[in-house]
Amino acid sequence: MISKRANRLSPSETLKITAKAKQMAREGASVISLSAGEPDFKTPAHICNAAIDAITDGFHGYTMNTGMPELREAISVKLKKDNNLDYAADQIVLSNGAKQSIGFSILATINPGDEVLIPAPYWVSYPEMVKMAEGNPKIIKTTFANNYKLTPDQLEEAITNKTKAIILCTPSNPTGACYTKNELKALGDILEKHPDIIIFSDEIYEYIVFDGEHTSILNASPALKDRTVIINGFSKGFAMTGWRLGYMAGPKTIVAAMAKIQSQETSAPSSISQKAGLAAYTGTMKPILEMREAFRERRDFIVHALREINGVECFTPSGAFYVFPDIHQFLGRETSDGEKIETSTDLCIYLLEKHGVATVPGDAFGEPNGLRISYAASMEQLNEAMTRFKNGLSQIN
Ligand SMILES: Cc1ncc(COP(=O)(O)O)c(C=O)c1O
Repeated sequence: MISKRANRLSPSETLKITAKAKQMAREGASVISLSAGEPDFKTPAHICNAAIDAITDGFHGYTMNTGMPELREAISVKLKKDNNLDYAADQIVLSNGAKQSIGFSILATINPGDEVLIPAPYWVSYPEMVKMAEGNPKIIKTTFANNYKLTPDQLEEAITNKTKAIILCTPSNPTGACYTKNELKALGDILEKHPDIIIFSDEIYEYIVFDGEHTSILNASPALKDRTVIINGFSKGFAMTGWRLGYMAGPKTIVAAMAKIQSQETSAPSSISQKAGLAAYTGTMKPILEMREAFRERRDFIVHALREINGVECFTPSGAFYVFPDIHQFLGRETSDGEKIETSTDLCIYLLEKHGVATVPGDAFGEPNGLRISYAASMEQLNEAMTRFKNGLSQIN
C-alpha cells in the first residue's frame, strides 16, 4: 500500500530520541534532554505582540502564495543590511519553516538520478529530502581534525558528471562549525569551475555566531549567485520554532518553480506568523543578542566540561547551539552492567536509559564517531547533564 518513495525515507532520528526522552519523563523518570534542536527561550515579546495584533485586527486570510509583499520586502532589506546580498522581494518565497523551503527547492531542481553532494555530519533531513525528489544523496565524509568542514580536495573529488547540487550548512547543525570566508572562497573556486551545480546554502543559524561574523558562500564567491539558493528562517535566531516560518531567496527561475510547487502543496505560511516575522526583522535585535550571549556562556561551559572527560575530544564550535564531541574511544566496549556499546546509537540509548541524559547519536548525522549535544538548556540543567554524562562514560570499561 505504501509508495516506494515513502519506503525509501527514514524517520527523523532526532525527533525519535526526543520523543523517547519525553516519554520517559512522562513515566516519571528524571531526564535531561539535550537532544532537541530548538532554543529554550521564549519568542521575544514584541514579536508575540505583533501576532496578537494580527489576530485582533482580523488579519486572518490567505496571503499571497509566496508570502506577504511587506515581509518579503523586509527580508530583501535584511539580506542587504546583514549579509550584503541583493535580492528583490520577488526573489524570495516564504514557507512553513526553512525545512519546507529546502524541501520544495530540492523538489523544484532535482531530477531522478541526480546526485546531490552532502558533507557529513549533515542535518538529518537533507539526504531524505533528496531521496524524496528521487535524487541520490552523495555523502562526503569530513574529518574531526578539520572541525568537520569540507575541504576543497574532498569537494573536487566528489564531483561527477551526475552532480546536480551541493548542500552547505554554516553555522552547522550538528557540529556548530562555521566556515570562514577563505574556506568558502576555496570551495567557491571549485564550484565556479562547474557551472551546472546548484548550491543550497542553509544559513538558518546565522544569528548564533560567537566568533566573528556569519559569512555566506555568496560573500566569498559572488559569481555563484545565479545558481545559489539561500535558505534562512526565524526558528533559531528568534526562538520561533513553533511559528513555522522560513524562506528561500534565489534566482528567479528556481523561485518560480519552487513557488509553483508550494502553491499546489501548502500555499503560504500562516498570516499570523508572517506578521510576527515582520516584527522580528523590523524590530529591536536586543533580545536576539542576549540569547546569543547566553548560548556563548553555555558553549564555553559545555566545551570545558567535555574536555575534562577522559576519552572525549571536542573542538570549540563557533556557532549554533550544538557541540559534537568525538566519542569513538567508547565504542566497542562494555558498560559495568555488561551492556555492549558498539555504536553511537548504543551509547546514546545507554546514556538516556541508565543515566537520564538525552543526546543524539552521530549515526543519525552520518558520523558514527560523534554525538550531538544541544546546549539549548539552562546552566543548571547543563551542569547536571554533564555530571550524568561523565558518570555514564566512567562506567564503560
Ligand atoms: C540546519 C537546519 N536547517 C533547517 C532547519 C529547519 O528549520 P525550520 O524550523 O525553519 O523548519 C533546521 C531545524 O532544525 C536546521 O537545523
